[in-house]
Amino acid sequence: MTDFPSTAIITGASRGMGALIAEALAKRGVGLVLAARDAAGLEATRDRCARHGHAVHVVPTDVADPRQLAALVATATARLGALDLLVNNAGIEEVGFFEDMTPEEIELHARVNLIAPMQLARAVLPGMLARDRGHIVNMASVAGLAPMGFGETYGATKAGLLNFSRSLRASLRARGTQVRCSAVCPGFVEGAGMYADQQVRYGFNAPGLVGSVHVDEVVRAVLRVIDEDLPEVVVNDKPIKPLVMAGLTSPRLMDWILGKPSLGRMLLPMAEARRAERQAAAARDEESLTKP
Ligand SMILES: NC(=O)c1ccc[n+]([C@@H]2O[C@H](COP(=O)([O-])OP(=O)(O)OC[C@H]3O[C@@H](n4cnc5c(N)ncnc54)[C@H](OP(=O)(O)O)[C@@H]3O)[C@@H](O)[C@H]2O)c1
Repeated sequence: MTDFPSTAIITGASRGMGALIAEALAKRGVGLVLAARDAAGLEATRDRCARHGHAVHVVPTDVADPRQLAALVATATARLGALDLLVNNAGIEEVGFFEDMTPEEIELHARVNLIAPMQLARAVLPGMLARDRGHIVNMASVAGLAPMGFGETYGATKAGLLNFSRSLRASLRARGTQVRCSAVCPGFVEGAGMYADQQVRYGFNAPGLVGSVHVDEVVRAVLRVIDEDLPEVVVNDKPIKPLVMAGLTSPRLMDWILGKPSLGRMLLPMAEARRAERQAAAARDEESLTKP
């Protein structure tokens, strides 16, 4: 797009990185529809965005529910008119032992992190293509580029989202349209969001070998992929490309790298803490069932 978008849907805008990305878009004059489940969180983001003087609407939405996705796009179009930008930012992560996850949790991860972004893209694309204007930005992760123990569903869904982004971008370019698609791949993000929550809750800190970035850098990356029409941007403290190349060219080298305790086991203590939390919750449930 030659000029910046005028209207946008952003998912996961109730807290974390999404709230800050929304505010940065509001500062750039974008009319917004903010989506997530937590209405109070969305209202708080709206208050911050509205200071910049442009339209901001709150549409409480569970992106795991396909009917709510269709309603979100219909409501956004009714409130803002033609949609120029979709930021697929909503996401969930579970660090843990894969066999501890329930079938429902696995499905939920796929719905929120992968299926919802694809369904939303599908819903906004016809309007964008008809106007030859629009941008879809998908919030992937370094976890989608390189393997990470104790986060299988997260890594799998983010890898899927990244490849969806790359493929859609290739199709759009081949069709000669001005509609764009980009991905942003942050590493561990400080200052807001799920990693910042894990730091507080589990005392987890990313090892120096991996490092972390401040959330402001992710916000800047989102603006940059739009301004400069970039395919994808990795936002990580340390160079990640050698690790990605190792995974692609030599799985045995990747085995060796992930055999290093500082990398391969970095999430193990959090996985153990999550197992203990699950067991405690199951014991509480059982106790409440057996109580007269
Ligand atoms: N923080 C990091 O270190 C990091 C690194 C790489 C990538 N990312 C990605 O960045 C994105 C934002 O993450 P964050 O760190 O800001 O996480 P966060 O603070 O946990 O926020 C997640 C957002 O997603 C929304 N969400 C979750 N489930 C939803 C559902 N079923 N329907 C609608 N919205 C839902 C949440 O809103 P409600 O709970 O109100 O629904 C919330 O607004 C995610 O895609 C994440 O995977 C984060």
